[in-house]
Amino acid sequence: MSLNTITINQRMDKFDAHHSVWLFGYGSLIFKADFPYIERRPASIANWARRFWQGSHDHRGTEAAPGRVVTLVPAPGALCAGMAYLITPEVFAHLDHREKNGYLRLATDIRFDDGDTVEGLVYIATEDNAAFLGAATERDIARQIASASGPSGRNRDYLLDLAHALRELGQDDAHVFAIERHLADFAK
Ligand code: SIN
Repeated sequence: MSLNTITINQRMDKFDAHHSVWLFGYGSLIFKADFPYIERRPASIANWARRFWQGSHDHRGTEAAPGRVVTLVPAPGALCAGMAYLITPEVFAHLDHREKNGYLRLATDIRFDDGDTVEGLVYIATEDNAAFLGAATERDIARQIASASGPSGRNRDYLLDLAHALRELGQDDAHVFAIERHLADFAK
């Protein structure tokens, strides 16, 4: 699959006729909402786990030294917690550009913390995208994150901001918090 997913995402017209759409964010979309939204609510999606398995060439790393950012991997029975945003379809132009390094829009059921559910969208970078890095030990992931940096800033700040945002949501994410602990062993 091409490195740039903008054209593929523009063909995803499922919600084009809707006035508003719920978008589920589980990574930087939790802590960096640089787009207009009508409302936001803590939420989760089922059967996915958050993993620092996606390479970042355009935001938190470079082609020569990619960073690592989160994507979702299938995990039957798991719940991934994050933040849902009610947005208008025009906002997708900005989001498709922001998430162009391998992420595809996918329709999913979103469950709000009060138990209500709604169908919405999530951006997922699947393992067949060119920037996918896949599994590594949490220590190796922390080592890579410690040294990577790109146009959106230091990769370590992405990790620390995500860990902070998850704590604010009252969420315990063993994978993210383990990488955060290992990060402390690597120089700034
Ligand atoms: C997301 O936050 O939902 C997608 C991954 C990212 O942009 O970090």
